[in-house]
Amino acid sequence: MKAIVLEKLDPAAPLAVTEAAVPDIAADEVLVKTHALAINPVDIKTLEDYTIVRDGETIRGSAASLLDGVSPIILGWDIAGVVTAVGTDVTKFKAGDAVFGMVRFPGHGKAYAEYVAAPAAHLAAKPAHISFDAAAGATLAAVTAWQCLTRHYSVKAGDRVLITAPTGGVGHYAVQMAKHLGAYVIALTSGGNTALATELGANEVLDYATFDAATAAPLQLDFVLDAGGRNDATWFARHLKPGAPLFYLPSGLTKVQQQRYAAQGLNAAFKMVTSEESAIEDIARLLHDGSIVTKIAGVYPFTEMKAAFAAQHKGTAQGKIIIRMPASA
Ligand SMILES: NC(=O)c1ccc[n+]([C@@H]2O[C@H](COP(=O)([O-])OP(=O)(O)OC[C@H]3O[C@@H](n4cnc5c(N)ncnc54)[C@H](OP(=O)(O)O)[C@@H]3O)[C@@H](O)[C@H]2O)c1
Repeated sequence: MKAIVLEKLDPAAPLAVTEAAVPDIAADEVLVKTHALAINPVDIKTLEDYTIVRDGETIRGSAASLLDGVSPIILGWDIAGVVTAVGTDVTKFKAGDAVFGMVRFPGHGKAYAEYVAAPAAHLAAKPAHISFDAAAGATLAAVTAWQCLTRHYSVKAGDRVLITAPTGGVGHYAVQMAKHLGAYVIALTSGGNTALATELGANEVLDYATFDAATAAPLQLDFVLDAGGRNDATWFARHLKPGAPLFYLPSGLTKVQQQRYAAQGLNAAFKMVTSEESAIEDIARLLHDGSIVTKIAGVYPFTEMKAAFAAQHKGTAQGKIIIRMPASA
């Protein structure tokens, strides 16, 4: 099969497509012939073994630590494709079923491949009218948003929810999901993203450049999903209701960062996405009934993974960057 195989994590790797053996499947797994993949900032951070040195503390801000000592490595977690074989314990899927999901995160997903061995519990059936490209996008980014809005916090109708980076991979799903849950959604973004944030359903769009957090009337927020991480604790202090949670996504928080949030009386925490059967099945339902759509920022052939990484690295993608597999419909 075709796959992008690395001997070790190496930011200079050409991410070239080579030949590799089709993986075996365990009893609880299915073999998926991939039609489309999605990439995420964490793919790049993992390839680069991204570390943050801040406040005298070093944090490895990716999945790289999970791959220490592992060789060969196949990066990637997000797939959409068709089941070609099922493990002996699998009753949920049969050969020929179209599926999508985030495979084994955090862990070794091995998604950049023509065939992926995936736990059946990490996949959902792809709604028939949703393309493989759109389904591939609604995986790590969508599960992150859904787990934050419904697992780590439960958004209620009428909640005032602020979402940063609301037009990126995570944010564009989060805005739509929060609206679906009945929240009043405030999007905080760069001026160029205002139209899209509105189109996604934000009730209000604030521009970083012109919104003066120190003097503006308090936003009275019940919840903040901070996907972008551009603002510090003082920015949020006057705008969250007492005890309201703020989930910070870009990396783990250093002890000093945590102290800064605490000093402002904020209930802030880093949250990390994990593969979860009921979450991906919820997302399949949201896609099926049109409550969320995948905004596709660009589609790259599998052979152009390096260019796709460069596009993702810019941080300006509106929605998801998708990788189309060879000979897929
Ligand atoms: N903890 C987890 O489990 C988890 C899961 C998924 C993603 N993440 C992290 O969450 C972040 C967003 O992920 P994503 O998939 O939405 O990424 P993305 O699609 O690349 O997000 C793009 C958006 O990020 C904002 N942005 C760009 N450059 C930035 C910068 N230098 N500083 C701050 N914000 C910047 C921009 O929004 P504005 O112009 O509106 O600011 C842009 O529209 C990433 O750091 C990613 O690693 C964490």
